[in-house]
Amino acid sequence: MIKAVVHADWSVGTINRNIYGHFAEHLGRCIYEGLWVGEDSPIPNTDGIRNDVIEALRKLRVPVLRWPGGCFADEYHWKDGIGPRESRKQMINTHWGGVVENNHFGTHEFFRLCELIGAEPYICGNVGSGTVHEMAEWLEYMTSDGDSPMANLRRANGREEPWKLTYFGVGNENWGCGGNMLPEFYADLYRQFQTYAREHGGNKLYKIAGGANSDDYRWTEVMMRKAERHMHGLSLHYYTVPGTWEQKGSSTAFSEDEWFATMHKAMRMDELLTRHGTVMDVHDPAKRVGIIVDEWGTWFDPEPGTNPGFLHQQNTMRDALVAALHLHIFHKHCARVQMANLAQLANVLQAVVLTDGERMLLTPTYHVLEMYNVHQDAEALAIHGQFGECASQGEGGALAQVGVTASRKDGAIHISLYNVDPSRPAELDLELRGVLGAHVIADAKLLSADEMHAHNTFAQPDSVKPQPYTQAAIGQDGKLAAILPPASVAVIRLVPAHSS
Ligand code: AHR
Repeated sequence: MIKAVVHADWSVGTINRNIYGHFAEHLGRCIYEGLWVGEDSPIPNTDGIRNDVIEALRKLRVPVLRWPGGCFADEYHWKDGIGPRESRKQMINTHWGGVVENNHFGTHEFFRLCELIGAEPYICGNVGSGTVHEMAEWLEYMTSDGDSPMANLRRANGREEPWKLTYFGVGNENWGCGGNMLPEFYADLYRQFQTYAREHGGNKLYKIAGGANSDDYRWTEVMMRKAERHMHGLSLHYYTVPGTWEQKGSSTAFSEDEWFATMHKAMRMDELLTRHGTVMDVHDPAKRVGIIVDEWGTWFDPEPGTNPGFLHQQNTMRDALVAALHLHIFHKHCARVQMANLAQLANVLQAVVLTDGERMLLTPTYHVLEMYNVHQDAEALAIHGQFGECASQGEGGALAQVGVTASRKDGAIHISLYNVDPSRPAELDLELRGVLGAHVIADAKLLSADEMHAHNTFAQPDSVKPQPYTQAAIGQDGKLAAILPPASVAVIRLVPAHSS
């Protein structure tokens, strides 16, 4: 029997809503087509941004959106993306497919997108090929309310008021595409660049230093030792790649072994957060500096027939499970993890929406994030239990069959569950401790499918979508008994019996 105890009176920290953040890069069809179609497009849009995507993202409750990259950020020169669109400078997007970037989506368009979807902007500055001066001027352009040259340039471009910008990244992957630097060199550069990341008027910045590539603990150690007091957050990038970087595996055609390999790789996020967190604890025991997992998600081989530089992939129930698994891990580490950004928003990697001309679909990953958004800003609860073992393990040894996470907010308790086994259902017995009086199920949703490869297509956009969850009930003993179908994800809302 799989058993869990949720301690409703034992908070392990607050789940920062920004753990549910997203990332949109000038890469493939993410910005252009996925988000931006232009004001003259026949696709219904608001100021050039597609309405169907705006509506989907509002419903998702995207708290924060990172832009313009990724690797693109360290090649981006912001002045190319302001002023009349027809006269903006073009460039070649050398990282991503070698296509022409016309810069029609720039600073003003990004802030408008954030306004329309209700997200906080998170901008990543250019350290790899930019200058301190260029970065300082961008911040002045965006946030100064004074009679300053950049604020006046912004006004000349039609925006009188400064924008509010809190989250600012000083470079991206500076160990790789952002300049191939060593940590000692980047730590010094970070200190220099962030000095001129000024706070104009009442704008307060949360400065994010470029962090490690997966298990590069030395990078974290050097950054914390040399620059801890100059940062609010330190990033971490880790992708779930079932195969190797050369042969990652198909997004839709995979065996059960590959399913398990993917889950094992996804689970690695837990170890990474524990170990990077331990390194950070040495320099920052109070956990002032947040871990910002500003790129995570699945990375498969590109869809056959698409530009390999566009990183376009489908999204199945396997992605849904990977998403759930990551959210459980982020909740567990919420005392240190202050933000996480799924890569990427539309048409790229583990996207939440896919578009094809005027058509748009929601992926299984979208549905998990939407079901789980009830945990945003809630108190994460302590959980203990025996979570079973999967029938087949694939490479990597034992894998718990079931995951449980729970949080408390506004008098309700939300319990999220997954069954990672693609062929066996799971029976779970869950005890809620530390509550006064009986609780009842006020709402319950389930995401499951007949088979593990299930996904949505433009012909059948609703093949995978949440359904009412009917196989969970509170028994006479007050315990929650639930049966989770193979490869499924569920969210249950419990409220005190007297309030239902
Ligand atoms: O998300 C795709 C790319 O992955 C990003 O541009 C880069 O930061 C990372 O290597």
